[in-house]
Amino acid sequence: MSAVAASGTLTLGDDLEVHRLGFGAMRITGDGVWGPPADRDVAVAVVRRVVELGVNLIDTADSYGPRVSEQLIAEALHPYPDGLVIATKGGLQRSGPGQWSRNGRPEHLRTACEGSLRDLRTDRIDLYQLHAPDPDVPYAESVGAMKELQDEGKIHHVGVSNVSVEQLDEARSIVDVVSVQNRFNLSDRSSAEVLAVCERDGLGFFPWFPLAAGDLARPGGVVAEIAQAHDATPGQVALAWLLARSPVMLPIPGTGSAEHLEENIAAAGLELDDEELERLDDAV
Ligand SMILES: NC(=O)c1ccc[n+]([C@@H]2O[C@H](COP(=O)([O-])OP(=O)(O)OC[C@H]3O[C@@H](n4cnc5c(N)ncnc54)[C@H](OP(=O)(O)O)[C@@H]3O)[C@@H](O)[C@H]2O)c1
Repeated sequence: MSAVAASGTLTLGDDLEVHRLGFGAMRITGDGVWGPPADRDVAVAVVRRVVELGVNLIDTADSYGPRVSEQLIAEALHPYPDGLVIATKGGLQRSGPGQWSRNGRPEHLRTACEGSLRDLRTDRIDLYQLHAPDPDVPYAESVGAMKELQDEGKIHHVGVSNVSVEQLDEARSIVDVVSVQNRFNLSDRSSAEVLAVCERDGLGFFPWFPLAAGDLARPGGVVAEIAQAHDATPGQVALAWLLARSPVMLPIPGTGSAEHLEENIAAAGLELDDEELERLDDAV
């Protein structure tokens, strides 16, 4: 059994079964998520290793690079193995390293989706996520564009990201939403209510920035203590806590390093007992 299998599985929509620990492909680009990675061969090798380790959900976006992450995934893995789910996103634009602006205009989302189809070398995106609500565009218009792309067969499933409970409800009144991607980790649980909705209704919840254990990982802190007891790293404890937190939780830790990748995936097999989970729950 592959290490990732210990994370269990989650079914997105009614047909895409994936392990509950995925890979975030934002970190295989250059500094500031801008331009090519320092070493292209290393980045390609990391992406190939993801699949060798049995991981079958990769998260990316047209804005990572921009285009670099999607193109590297295609270079490393196309033609894609059966069962691999590539989840990409549209709705952000880039003007330079570390700079992100939202663009949820329907015409932009269409252009972005068509670009992702080309860069990923596919004729249908498994899961297309609206990267973020754009305050300058009514959310219903952005989500409506996602529905149109789905109706045209360019998208299989639709996901949303960086949403409140109200925005999630609004999106679901327009299109069938199978997943939510919000920031969530040991030190930031501000999306707990959104997670509760996902758990109630069986939507996947992809916590981004899952390794931000923050101060909890300081020497002598709770995370570090629990990590030591298991001969694990604080990051592995942060991932194991997420996996235990909800059956719909699907962390997507990101890295450009094969060593870090192996370490992150090994967290699937780290079992924390009830007392440890309670201590972590109470730690913030
Ligand atoms: N929807 C959104 O708005 C949104 C926003 C941000 C991210 N995301 C997605 O979520 C994914 C994860 O978020 P993230 O990449 O920001 O945060 P993360 O996974 O919590 O952390 C990634 C950072 O931790 C380092 N790291 C990873 N594994 C490590 C390990 N085992 N030991 C030490 N350091 C390690 C990485 O550096 P190294 O490369 O050196 O390992 C990188 O700097 C992204 O890749 C992206 O797909 C989505």
